[in-house]
Amino acid sequence: MRTIRTIAELRAALAEPRRHDARIGLVPTMGAFHEGHLSLMRRARQDCDLVVVSLFVNPTQFDETADLVAYPRDERRDAALAAEVGVDLLFAPAATELYPDGFATTVSVAGLTDRLEGAFRGRAHFDGVATVVTKLLNIVAPAVAFLGQKDAQQVLVIRRLVRDLSLPVTIEVCPTVRERDGLAMSSRNERLRGADRARATALHDALLAADAAVRTGERDAAAVAAAASAVLDGAGVETEYFELVSADTLAPVTEIQEPARPVLAVVAARVGGTRLIDNQMLTTDRQATGLCPGRAEPEARAAAGSQVS
Ligand code: PAJ
Repeated sequence: MRTIRTIAELRAALAEPRRHDARIGLVPTMGAFHEGHLSLMRRARQDCDLVVVSLFVNPTQFDETADLVAYPRDERRDAALAAEVGVDLLFAPAATELYPDGFATTVSVAGLTDRLEGAFRGRAHFDGVATVVTKLLNIVAPAVAFLGQKDAQQVLVIRRLVRDLSLPVTIEVCPTVRERDGLAMSSRNERLRGADRARATALHDALLAADAAVRTGERDAAAVAAAASAVLDGAGVETEYFELVSADTLAPVTEIQEPARPVLAVVAARVGGTRLIDNQMLTTDRQATGLCPGRAEPEARAAAGSQVS
């Protein structure tokens, strides 16, 4: 695997494979790799001839300076992990390479970014994500980009900008990878200490409670959310939101009409000083399997499949 620092160098490295019609896959990341990131890279490896992983802790998407400063950085470890799963190119530019002096353009996706994460983190967060992802898609020009369902709102924002700006890329969404106790993997989990680590499973437990309520016949979104909130409150975490929303538009849902209208349960909570998010598609199908596995085995994850937009 080769590590590349500049846009020019990366474009040069991709020119020859592109001439030979190589299918190029991009996995955008901010590093601190865990199994969630690696699952995207493995999927890209299976699906593409050439796999590019970008590693860039994007300053413009952080709403809290303390969060940016505390963000874990270990490029050597990340490079070793990426090489192990067969990544071809690691694009790890300096901030000045992506944001040169006088940088003045922002990609802003209206509507979708106002609520949930946008409301709690501020609009600048998704502007930062949309702008850097647009740049990465333009720099790499991949046939397919791989994203995690873990960040469901980010997926919708990126799908929308790809559609609106007519970018010639397919977005592939991979299932959320979880710890054995259900906690969604996240680089922020490293900050959880002692009792907070145990408490953090409340997000997944709340999603399970919502899922169980819907499967056993509850169709009133407020009642489903109340069942989930009871779990969060019982665990003593500081809930920012727990909502049932349209999986397509993120608009609040009052009555569950799934499968006609797919419903996503989304949650954000602070556990100790650490902000965590998670989400889960809800189903009225009592027989459905593979939902919210407490423990995601590779086989189960493969069986759960992915969604392609
Ligand atoms: P980062 O948080 O590093 O995540 C990189 C990718 O890994 C995202 O698509 C994210 O959804 C996915 N991911 C994270 N945890 C996951 C998990 N437990 N299971 C499956 N996938 C998971 O998201 C970003 O970086 C940035 O916003 C970025 C898109 C790179 C733009 O800067």
